[in-house]
Amino acid sequence: MCGIIGYVGGKPAVPFLLEGLRRMEYRGYDSAGVAVLHDGALGDCRAAGKIARLEAALNTTPVTGSCGIGHTRWATHGPPVERNAHPHRSQDGTVAVVHNGIIENANALRVLLQGKGYQFRSDTDTEVVAHLVQELMNGSLEEAVLAALREVEGTYGLAIVSSRDPGKIVAARKGSPLLVGIGDGEHFLASDASAILAHTRQVVYLHDGDVAVIEAGGYRVLDASAAPRTPKVDRIEWDQAAIERGGYPHFMLKEIFEQPQTVENTMRGRLIVEDGTSKLGGLNLSHEQLMAIDNVIITACGTSWHSALIGEMMIEEWCRLPVEVEYASEFRYKNPIVGPNTLCIVISQSGETADTLAAMREAKRRGARTLGLVNVVGSTIAREDDGGVYLHAGPEIGVASTKAFTSQVVALALFALKLARKRGMSVTRGMEIARALHALPAQIQDVLDRSEQVEHIAEEFKRAPNFLYLGRGANFPVALEGALKLKEISYIHAEGYPAAEMKHGPIALIDEMMPVVFVAPHDAVFDKVVSNIQEVKARKGTVIAITSRGEPALDGLVDYEFRIPETVDLLMPVLASVPLQLLAYYIAVKRGSNVDQPRNLAKSVTVE
Ligand code: M6R
Repeated sequence: MCGIIGYVGGKPAVPFLLEGLRRMEYRGYDSAGVAVLHDGALGDCRAAGKIARLEAALNTTPVTGSCGIGHTRWATHGPPVERNAHPHRSQDGTVAVVHNGIIENANALRVLLQGKGYQFRSDTDTEVVAHLVQELMNGSLEEAVLAALREVEGTYGLAIVSSRDPGKIVAARKGSPLLVGIGDGEHFLASDASAILAHTRQVVYLHDGDVAVIEAGGYRVLDASAAPRTPKVDRIEWDQAAIERGGYPHFMLKEIFEQPQTVENTMRGRLIVEDGTSKLGGLNLSHEQLMAIDNVIITACGTSWHSALIGEMMIEEWCRLPVEVEYASEFRYKNPIVGPNTLCIVISQSGETADTLAAMREAKRRGARTLGLVNVVGSTIAREDDGGVYLHAGPEIGVASTKAFTSQVVALALFALKLARKRGMSVTRGMEIARALHALPAQIQDVLDRSEQVEHIAEEFKRAPNFLYLGRGANFPVALEGALKLKEISYIHAEGYPAAEMKHGPIALIDEMMPVVFVAPHDAVFDKVVSNIQEVKARKGTVIAITSRGEPALDGLVDYEFRIPETVDLLMPVLASVPLQLLAYYIAVKRGSNVDQPRNLAKSVTVE
C-alpha cells in the first residue's frame, strides 16, 4: 500500500526520502517519486517500478534541497506508469502533492477545475488536490490546504509542499495514517513509523481531521476547524533490528520462526494457569459488562477473518454465547442487528485496514462496544476501539501474515477463556485450556525443528497448478488460511473447503494431478476426516496430511504426512497452521516468487 515520507531540516532531503521509502517497500508499491524545494523552486523525479529505478533517475537528473516529500504508490486510479506516480504537480508547478487514500469526488472536482482552464496530466484522483491548492493559494500553504480540504470528499493522508511558501510541509489526515517525527532542528513525516525510526523515536500520531505544519524548527497541529491542538508525543519502543531480517533470507521465514516467541509474548503476564483464566488489562469491560454480553460479532479481513472463525468456535463452545463472523467489507454496508449488549471484536494486524476500521465505526455508531485485537501499537483501530488486546507479535513485515495469525488465535483464546470462566466454565476445564496454551510455544518449536520435512514435500509439489485444502471444525479455517498463504505468495490456485463439503462439488476436480492437503489432527472429528480422505483416495487424489500422531487409520491412505503435537481441539489451529505456512513459503521460494512482496498485494490495505 502507498507510503508517504517527508523531511524538512538542514540536511539534503533526497537521501533521507529514499531511505524512508525503502523502509516502507514491504508495504507493496508499483512506482515511486520525490519532490524537493530548493532556492524557491520545486524539483521532482518519479519512476514506475522499484525504488532502484527512482534512484537511477535521480542520478541522471538530481534534485536537491532540504525540504521534500516522497511516495511509493500502489495503483488504484490508473496504471502504474510514471505519469501516475506521485508527487503530482499543480498546473503552474508551484505545488507538489503526495497522497494515500481515495478522493471520492475527484471526477466532479476535475470537471470543475477543467472549467477553470486546468489541464490534467495523470489518471489519478490525487492530481485534483494539487490544482485545487494552487487555485486557493492566497496566503500561507496551510490556509490553501485547509480551504482545499473543504472541497474534498474521501480519505487521505496528504503531504504537500509549495515553492510559494517554502521551508514547510503541510500534512493532512483523514482515514489514512500519518505521523510527525520530532528531531533536533529537523522534522519528519511518515505514513509508517518504520520509515523514520532510525532518526527519531519521538512521534505525534495525527488524528482524522488534523492538518500539520512541519518546519525545520518546529511543528504545529491544527484540528479540522483550523484551531491549534496540543498533540500527545508518543515514544516508539520498537527495536530497529526487529524490523530487519535478522539473517533469514526473507521476512516471512523469520516471522514463521519467531512464533514460539511471539505466541509467548501474546500470553506474557496474561495467562494465569493456576486459576485457569487470563488477565487482560486493556479490555475496559467491567465484570457486569462482561456478564451482560448477549451476543458477539467478530469482523476482520483476510487472514484476520480466518482467526475470527476460530474465535467464533472458542466463544460459542467455551462461553455458550452466540457469535457471528462478518467480513468487514460486507458488514459495513449491511444493516446489522446490534444491541446495547453486543460486543464487536475487531481483528487487524495493522490496525489500519480501511474496511475493518469502517466496520468498527459502524458497529460503534449502532451502539455496540468494540474490542480491538490489534498488533500495531498506536494504529487507528487501537486508538478508536473501546477496549483492546494488543497481540505483541512485533512488526510483521512479510505481506503474507503468519505470526500475527497465531497470535490472534491465542489472543482470542485468552479472551474466550476469561469470559468463559466468568460465565460458568469450571476451574478444571479452565486449567486444562490454560495449560495447553502455556505449552504452545514449545510445541511450535517442535514443529519448526522439523521444517525440512515440509521443505521435502514442497519440492515434490512445487509445479502443481492447483491445490485443495480440507479440514473440519476448527481446522476448516486452517484450511482456508493454508490455501490463502499458498495463493498469495506462489500464485498457485488453491481452495480451502470444509472436508465434508467436498462431495458437494469440488470432488469433481480430484484426479491424480490434484494434491489435497488434509488438516487432520486427532480431534473430535478425526474419524469423519478419515472418511473424507478415503473419498479422495478413491479418486486417485494425492493426499498430504497434517496429523497429530501415527494413526493406523491413515496407514496406506496418505501419500505424505506431517505430525504436529497434540493439544486441546480448539488450539490445534495454532500448531496446524505452522506447517502450512512453511509449505507455502518453500513452494513459493522454489518457484522463484518474491515472497515478501508478492505481486498486486499490499501489507496494509488502507483503501476500500
Ligand atoms: O492488517 P489486517 O490484519 O487488518 O489485514 C487484513 C488482510 O489484509 C490480511 O490479513 C491479508 O489477507 C494478508 N495478506 C494475509 O496474508
